[in-house]
Amino acid sequence: MTSASTSLLITGARQADGTSGDLFVADGRFADPADAPAGVHRVDADGLLALPGLVDLHTHLRQPGREDAETVATGTAAAARGGFTCVHAMANLTPATDTAEAAEYVQALGEREGHCEVRVVGAVTKGLGGSELSELGLMAKSAASVRVFSDDGRCVADSLVMRRALTYVKPFGGVIAQHSQDPRLAGTDACCHESEWSGRLGLPGWPSQAESVIVARDVQLAELAGSRLHVCHVSTAESVEVIRWAKRRGVQVTAEVTPHHLLLDTPLVAGYDTTFKVNPPLRTSEHLDAVREALADGTIDIVATDHAPHARQDKDHPFDVALPGMLGLEQALAVVVDVMVNTGRIDWPTLVRRMSSTPARIGQVPGQGGRLAIGEPANLVLVDPSARAVVDADASASRGRNNPYHGRELPDPVVATVFRGRISYQRG
Ligand code: NCD
Ligand code: ZN
Repeated sequence: MTSASTSLLITGARQADGTSGDLFVADGRFADPADAPAGVHRVDADGLLALPGLVDLHTHLRQPGREDAETVATGTAAAARGGFTCVHAMANLTPATDTAEAAEYVQALGEREGHCEVRVVGAVTKGLGGSELSELGLMAKSAASVRVFSDDGRCVADSLVMRRALTYVKPFGGVIAQHSQDPRLAGTDACCHESEWSGRLGLPGWPSQAESVIVARDVQLAELAGSRLHVCHVSTAESVEVIRWAKRRGVQVTAEVTPHHLLLDTPLVAGYDTTFKVNPPLRTSEHLDAVREALADGTIDIVATDHAPHARQDKDHPFDVALPGMLGLEQALAVVVDVMVNTGRIDWPTLVRRMSSTPARIGQVPGQGGRLAIGEPANLVLVDPSARAVVDADASASRGRNNPYHGRELPDPVVATVFRGRISYQRG
């Protein structure tokens, strides 16, 4: 999966907090640079930043079931290119990850084929059907040690089922990650943000409130259960307000925003390019401003990609019938650097919290999101903060070509990624 070299000396890199010093990696961990043998493989990182490897809490890897769209090997290769050393494989697979056996299967695939760590997300309900809880406890106790549960792609719409799920996972510290979309209010055919744009383009729209009413319900259910809720892909100003309110009350809620909801807005769908069809839909500029501000002030805890590759035949359709979803792993860091760091909204240490340490904490992943300190597992990304490039969808390691950044000039930060002490990606 990764290069054979088992020891590396990385010289000249600065860390997010401004400190610098050589990093020596041996047998998968950071070790004392004074112990580096003569002739050790050296990586000259002068002028680069060394950050802990990024952790994604929301990744669609499509294996098992849709290997024509993505596999664990191709999806995690895209992750490594994006600077990630850990991804969370969403449960909307075929079969759905709703049993201990299914979870262990995905976990083993990740260990065997992954270019990064693959943590398993378990389905909240059997077959993502929304009515019967799946084997939450058995998945938690399995070799996959599942801690994050989600029916993502579908909303757990039934309030009683959601309450029971929150209650059930509490004793083992699990978290329910909700795809917040009221199915009645959003409707089954909605594919655009309800706005002047949906009207003009003749596309069925869903209002931002179809998201925030579910968030408002769920934070209250989390409070009632005394349990942990995570809100997937927050896309609206109203959801941000609700989460802010809930956090002030002490509700155990965390939230994510995707790179695309930070950068891309509704008018992009005007060309009916199905690459821009995604759930929740691309929103308007006032919503983008709200999620950017919320990510800066910590109301939104993390960036998660919602990397959602699709086969060409599932995107080559009229807009209203094409499958929703877009790629995210390879350009996530680029977008966050562009929108949040280069504009002065956040600094590098905050970026590390939003993309590495906090997602690792929410997912309870040992050995990820930690410090680049002697004895710790060697998961890191080397970043060039000033490089830029035009994105080429065909250069992707993902099987998907539904890259919404194709043709756009963005930062090109990832120079190399090291996973468990081995180089999992190196530019050029
Ligand atoms: C995701 C998918 O394709 O699995 N699609 C999407 O539009 N985001 C499901 C999801 O994350 O809701
Ligand atoms: Zn979703």
